[in-house]
Amino acid sequence: MKVVETIAETRGWRGQIRSSVGFVPTMGALHAGHLSLVERARRENDHLAASVFVNPTQFGPQEDLSRYPRDLDRDRTLLSDAGVDLLFAPSPAEMYPAGFSTGVDVAGPSARLEGERRPGHFRGVATVVLKLFHVVEPDRAYFGQKDAQQLAVVRQMVRDLDLRPAIVACPTVREADGLALSSRNVYLGPEDRQAAPVLHRALQRATALWQEGERDAAVLRRAMTDVVSSEPRARLDYASVADPDTFAEIEGRSESAVAALAVFFGTTRLIDNAPLPPKPAA
Ligand code: PAJ
Repeated sequence: MKVVETIAETRGWRGQIRSSVGFVPTMGALHAGHLSLVERARRENDHLAASVFVNPTQFGPQEDLSRYPRDLDRDRTLLSDAGVDLLFAPSPAEMYPAGFSTGVDVAGPSARLEGERRPGHFRGVATVVLKLFHVVEPDRAYFGQKDAQQLAVVRQMVRDLDLRPAIVACPTVREADGLALSSRNVYLGPEDRQAAPVLHRALQRATALWQEGERDAAVLRRAMTDVVSSEPRARLDYASVADPDTFAEIEGRSESAVAALAVFFGTTRLIDNAPLPPKPAA
C-alpha cells in the first residue's frame, strides 16, 4: 500500500489508473464498520483508495476534536491488510491552507437533527468530501448507513453538483449486543457501555411495529422514546422518524422512512438509525 500525505501525490497515483477506482473516506480509529466498507469497495473496484483525516471543520467548538481517537500506525496496517492500494492521510494544512475560505452548504437534508444540534457540521462534511472526491476522482465512494443523515447530505450534493462517483451505502456493523460500532464508543465507561445497546433496542421496537404495519410516525417515535426512557443512564436527545432523502420529520403516516436516535450517556453522544423500508411489491 502506498501512503501519501499530499494532494499532488494522490493525483499522481490517480493519473496512472485507467480502470475503476473505489474510495472509502474515514476519520481513522478504524473498526470493523469501516473495514466492511473497505471490503465491499475492494470487491467492486480494480483499485482502492482510502483516506484518514480527522476533519477539523466538521467539529463544533465544544466538540471532541482534540480528544478524537487517533492511531495512524494501526489504521495503516488494517487498511494495508484489507487490500487498500492508496492511503491518503493529509495534514489539516494540506487540506485547509492559510486563507481557505470556501464551504459547501447542502440545504435540505442538513437542516435538522444532527445539522440542528451541530451547527456547521454538515458544511464541514460536505466541503471535505467534495475536496476528497476532486482529489481521488473515484468511480464509487462507500459510506455507512450508520450515519444516515450524512449519507443523505452526500447524495444530495452529488446530485446537485453532478459529481462523478456513485455513492454506495453499506449496512451498519454492530457489536453482539446490538451497539453500532463507532470510534466514539471508546469514550463510554463500563456502565454506560452496558446501557448503550438501548439505542438498538429502541430501533428494533420501531422496526417491529413497522413490520406489523404501523405507519403513524408519532406512534413510532413514542415507542422509541419509551424504550430509551426505560434506561436510567440514557438521556434522549432526539427520536425521529424522517424522510430518508430529505430528513424532514414525518407528520402523520408514511410508507418509507428512517428511524433515527441520538442519546447521551454522560457527555458522550451516540447516534444510530434503522431504515423503515417500503413494503416490497407483492
Ligand atoms: P468516520 O466516522 O470515520 O466514518 C467513516 C465511514 O464509516 C462513514 O461512511 C461511516 O458512516 C462509516 N461507519 C462508521 N461506523 C460504521 C458502522 N458501525 N457500520 C458501518 N459503517 C460505519 O463519517 C466520517 O468518518 C466523516 O464524516 C467523513 C465522511 C470521513 C468526512 O470527514
